[in-house]
Amino acid sequence: MISIQQLSKVYPSKQGDVVGVDDVTLSIEKGEIFGIVGYSGAGKSTLLRCMNILERPTSGKVVIDGIDLLSLSGKKLREARQSIGMIFQGFHLAMSKTVVDNVAFALKASGVKKDERRERSLELLELVGLSDKAHQYPAQLSGGQKQRVSIARALANDPKVLLCDEATSALDPNTTKSILQLLKRINEKLGLTIVLITHEMEVVKDICHRCAVMEEGRVVEQGRTYDMFAFPKEELTKRFIQTVLDFHIPEALLEQSSGSVVHLTFAGEVAGQSIVSDLLQSHPVKANILHGKVDYIQDKALGTFVMDLSGTKEAVEEAINSLRKTLNDVEVWRDGFTDHSLARAK
Ligand SMILES: Nc1ncnc2c1ncn2[C@@H]1O[C@H](COP(=O)(O)OP(=O)(O)OP(=O)(O)O)[C@@H](O)[C@H]1O
Ligand SMILES: [Mg+2]
Repeated sequence: MISIQQLSKVYPSKQGDVVGVDDVTLSIEKGEIFGIVGYSGAGKSTLLRCMNILERPTSGKVVIDGIDLLSLSGKKLREARQSIGMIFQGFHLAMSKTVVDNVAFALKASGVKKDERRERSLELLELVGLSDKAHQYPAQLSGGQKQRVSIARALANDPKVLLCDEATSALDPNTTKSILQLLKRINEKLGLTIVLITHEMEVVKDICHRCAVMEEGRVVEQGRTYDMFAFPKEELTKRFIQTVLDFHIPEALLEQSSGSVVHLTFAGEVAGQSIVSDLLQSHPVKANILHGKVDYIQDKALGTFVMDLSGTKEAVEEAINSLRKTLNDVEVWRDGFTDHSLARAK
């Protein structure tokens, strides 16, 4: 649906060139919710603005639904842009227009008749759950309601793609959830392709099928959201997923352990198996659970366990080796038999 090929955007300045986006290649499937995460200044907004040629890339290609956007100009480009809706952190609503007129205005440019504009706008407000606010002004709405209006407005021209730049960053956690659920519903109901930029991995975890991590204008890692959480490769990706999966075990508790402290990740098929109880039956070790959690990412389980395994040195070592045979990720955070000061691996 969206193919970005070797896209770069350089801003020349007296102090030297600033690279906004650096040689990015991405392909986003039809009907997919694709997340782009990165810290401030990573180039997320620049990349998004290049996707609808709000910003002209310095080099590279943007192909949406088979149309090479950079080969278009004038009226043709404006027409192509109508199939790309966009929403922002700051909502960008016209404060002097009512809610329904804000939505209807988006249809004016595409030559829809007045009655039809109104009817379609009311339908869209119903879709986003705001029918009762149609005749109010944006100033009378909460942040979440304002974002619903801008979503309705972005959907006015039946876009194929919806680009969202930090659409939930100004909202509280509950309102964020409800806006994300709305985006998910629209994605499923209308088959809309959604590109979602955020600095919160939690947002990605909630609704994105796939995602990319950006740093200094480049995409450093991309893949299915579940795989990024379960098998991250890059340090930066690990830092982002830790914001969601992280937990803290007091150092004193680790020091008190009578054996080895191991950190286990249960991903994919093994997430549903009884590995720990099997281990305890087949090895003469005891397990004291220090932490246990199952996250559901795209409806798949990802388990994290920290256990204190005690027993003889040989039994504990054999137990850890046997865990390593079934699990991809077994980290020994404290080896109670060789060195008590061994720091946690991460
Ligand atoms: N119009 C511009 N002129 C010059 N430099 C720019 C311009 N827009 C962006 N940049 C630079 O490009 C880089 C990427 O900026 P961008 O706004 O895309 O980052 P971002 O990932 O969206 O950050 P944030 O999370 O803060 O919104 C930054 O170094 C920024 O200073
Ligand atoms: Mg930005």
